[in-house]
Amino acid sequence: MDIKDKVALVTGGGSGIGRATALRLAHEGAAVVVADVDESGGGETVAQIEAAGGRAAFVRSDVTSAADAKAMIAFAEETFGGLDILHNNAGITTPRPRFPDADPESWMPVLEINLRGVILGTQFGIAAMRKSGGGAIVNTASLAGIGYGFPPDPVYAASKGGVVLFTASLAPLKDELNIRVNCVCPGVVDTPMFQRGRDEAPEEQSAAAERMRLLPLLQPEDVADAVVELIRDDTLAGRAMWLRNGMPRELGRLPQPPVAR
Ligand SMILES: NC(=O)c1ccc[n+]([C@@H]2O[C@H](COP(=O)([O-])OP(=O)(O)OC[C@H]3O[C@@H](n4cnc5c(N)ncnc54)[C@H](O)[C@@H]3O)[C@@H](O)[C@H]2O)c1
Repeated sequence: MDIKDKVALVTGGGSGIGRATALRLAHEGAAVVVADVDESGGGETVAQIEAAGGRAAFVRSDVTSAADAKAMIAFAEETFGGLDILHNNAGITTPRPRFPDADPESWMPVLEINLRGVILGTQFGIAAMRKSGGGAIVNTASLAGIGYGFPPDPVYAASKGGVVLFTASLAPLKDELNIRVNCVCPGVVDTPMFQRGRDEAPEEQSAAAERMRLLPLLQPEDVADAVVELIRDDTLAGRAMWLRNGMPRELGRLPQPPVAR
């Protein structure tokens, strides 16, 4: 898909990876809806896009709310005339103490935001894209969701594994509706989420610092590059793009759904 003059919506667009993707899509000529619960961060992303000569608008939206998810898509249609590109990106990690010491009230939002939020956004996004004859959806998963697991945060790994297999299961929509759903699986990316995670456990910092010293961090712009590739390549559907630290990005070799629905 050619991104120029398309309408894109990015959830979690007020920070980190979402902001980088929003800026990149605007740079490529899309009108961008920045959706986030953080009005200040979302407003800042819009301001950066407009300062660079792009078109953008902010909508406050909590991805866990079906009403908000529906409303953010309607906002894109009302503001820019439709929806062609959706990046379901908002996500969180489990606050410490993590599973199994975390209370369910503490870890349940991880599933709600990272998995339920992606499913809701995809559902209402598809409804809008059907009207205009097609579109591209990119979900933000994680390397934590593709088989290595992630012992520091098992609930996060479960949420991201869910996103990978939800995405793979939607591959048939490419032929059925001309809607391609793919996901990105980044390793460790230098964003506010990553920096917050480092701050929270002083007793773990020296070991973590040593691991990180050896790990070339990804930048949010690296993830934006992968998102743009998945949007542009009309052959891709149901795929997971892996971004391993220090390695070139690559399409994962997950098995494809064996049969159409
Ligand atoms: N940073 C990493 O190392 C890394 C690695 C792999 C995957 N990811 C994933 O990338 C995505 C973006 O993460 P990031 O590192 O940019 O984090 P971030 O904390 O910098 O940004 C996340 C954004 O999501 C928003 N958000 C949180 N809850 C929301 C909700 N309920 N509704 C709408 N917006 C909400 C936040 O306000 C924030 O603006 C997440 O899904 C994360 O799991 C991050």
